[in-house]
Amino acid sequence: MPQTLLKAYRDNAQTPIEEALCLPFDVYHDETIHQLEIQQIFQNDWVFACAADKLKSPGDYFAFDLAGEQVVLLRSKSNDLLALSNICRHRGTPLLDLGFGQLQKNIVCPYHAWTYADNGELLGVPFEGNCKLAKEQHSLPHFQLHEWRGLLFVNLSSQAQSFAHKVAKIDPFLEKFELERFQHSYQTTTEHWQSNWKLAVENAIESYHLFKVHKETLEKVTPTKSAYYVAGDAHSSLSGGEMKGAQSTLSKWFSGSNDEAYNQYLLVFLPPSFIAIISYEGFDWIHILPQGNQQCSVTPGGLSKSPAKNFKSAEFQFSDAFMLEDKVLCERLQRGMLSTKSQGGKLVDMEKIIVDFHQYLGHKLFDTSVSDYCETQKAAIFLK
Ligand code: FES
Ligand SMILES: [Fe+2]
Repeated sequence: MPQTLLKAYRDNAQTPIEEALCLPFDVYHDETIHQLEIQQIFQNDWVFACAADKLKSPGDYFAFDLAGEQVVLLRSKSNDLLALSNICRHRGTPLLDLGFGQLQKNIVCPYHAWTYADNGELLGVPFEGNCKLAKEQHSLPHFQLHEWRGLLFVNLSSQAQSFAHKVAKIDPFLEKFELERFQHSYQTTTEHWQSNWKLAVENAIESYHLFKVHKETLEKVTPTKSAYYVAGDAHSSLSGGEMKGAQSTLSKWFSGSNDEAYNQYLLVFLPPSFIAIISYEGFDWIHILPQGNQQCSVTPGGLSKSPAKNFKSAEFQFSDAFMLEDKVLCERLQRGMLSTKSQGGKLVDMEKIIVDFHQYLGHKLFDTSVSDYCETQKAAIFLK
């Protein structure tokens, strides 16, 4: 256990913005730290899975790798939405294939065909022989599941804190956008970046880099100079900014409103790994999960007003372009994290949201104290 590294991580992760420095570079590749984060964070907090809209019909499922744990969300025949372990209770084979699918009847293991009902109960064991096994002791474990604004979150811990606690402060900021207008989900291909998950999260939440990394893409729509912190603390954070051409003249005319919020975007960060951008026109997100200590998965998705999204549209070409810019930068940064002769410096005001994230990490990993909830004058734009 690298005690000096743990101490440096703990110390850095609890400083307020005025004194905040980057985290020690080693926490972006050290294996012990990585394992600690998996246990204390990903196995112990609410983690995004997918949009609820994807699991509407009995048999619909979504199987995914939650930081090494195989999980499946499933709509049962009795119309219950469940989160189950996707691991066979015989010898541990992952059951349903990763991604979205439709379960025809029961869950059948691809190895020796142990068969489970869609509520996780073990129904049958082929060639059971004389070694009688207690079927009721071989059900698939259930996990906690929560739906929030059309999104599904899972918690692997049986002692999970309530989800409501996590979003209590930010919920009122979302009302103006009337998110119930966005009923149709889309999810594009998961990408794999050669960077620690925390680098990808920090990059996704701060707007400081837009003018440099995204000069020809995002900066033209959401300029760095008009980005600002809105509100937050270690549990959740909001930032915002001007969104050029956010609301078309036509939709402004129809909505009969020129509310200032509709010309802004609101970035919602629910740590550890869910980052959404909400505007009058849409609700889009990326979800980041660790895959080992120096790789992560990045899955974009969203909810839109119309059913069919055209993945070849200019809108998707635009997001592909800026995502590639982020990937290149994060992978470049990961190489910097291997330095043993250099160290990180001061975070600037525009990186306050990163400080919230670091305090979240400190709180989850070391039970450190966190700064009070902070709301800036910009909050008034979004509150009704
Ligand atoms: S591992 Fe699943 S049936 Fe053997
Ligand atoms: Fe970026």
